[in-house]
Amino acid sequence: MILIKLGGSVITNKGKPLSPRRKSIDKIVKTLKKINEPIVIVHGGGSYGHYWSVKYDMHTKPEKYSTRGVSIVKNSMIELNKIILDSFLKNKLNPYCLPPTDFISGNKPITKKIKMIEKIARSGFIPVTYGDALWYGQKKSFILSGDRIMGVLATILKPRLSIFVVNVDGLYSNIKTKKLIRELKGRKPLISKSSKDVTGGMNRKVDEAIKISKKGMNVFFVNGNKPERIIDAINRKKFHGTLFRG
Ligand code: IPE
Repeated sequence: MILIKLGGSVITNKGKPLSPRRKSIDKIVKTLKKINEPIVIVHGGGSYGHYWSVKYDMHTKPEKYSTRGVSIVKNSMIELNKIILDSFLKNKLNPYCLPPTDFISGNKPITKKIKMIEKIARSGFIPVTYGDALWYGQKKSFILSGDRIMGVLATILKPRLSIFVVNVDGLYSNIKTKKLIRELKGRKPLISKSSKDVTGGMNRKVDEAIKISKKGMNVFFVNGNKPERIIDAINRKKFHGTLFRG
């Protein structure tokens, strides 16, 4: 099984509120058709979920955030999710929409439900889930990122490869010269502040990738504007991106 996260910077224009990148979405989805094994898709919030979470000052830490904000973030994620699902259907793939509330309670994974995701994927559907605003309990809520969902799903489903589709070629050792780190094992590289700025949540993605790779699984960062690289990696042909070796 392959676990794939479609980053918000690839599927939306992060510089403009509520703007999907439909062409990029379609191009990636078309490429996914070439994969001959079960896949599970997670997508981020980009200029949908992130835009509203910033407006309502909501974060990953459970707090008493605005109820209005929670509703609006959730609604915007459904809107983005619908765009992704429509693209799957248009390209003759069969998505199976799973809001994260289906397999996460509070901030705890529901193992039984997550194991069902694998069965769904093996029966010919493509499960699609996404980062979202979630109710935590005691009037608190929190933002669950798609990156965190990747960690949760990888731990239980043990995919042979977890792929983070991003808007750059991978992790750069030097942001100015764009020198790509081809392979990493174990330790986290120093991520310069500027590289954090350029790629938004790159730091958070790397943390999640390292956690997964430390459990013995390979993780790959790849440029979503070059979707054929996803297929090359899945076919073990070539890893044009950053490979975190498990
Ligand atoms: C964000 O998920 C979810 C919300 C803000 C509601 P991610 O944090 O995984 O999104 P991207 O990929 O960085 O945009």
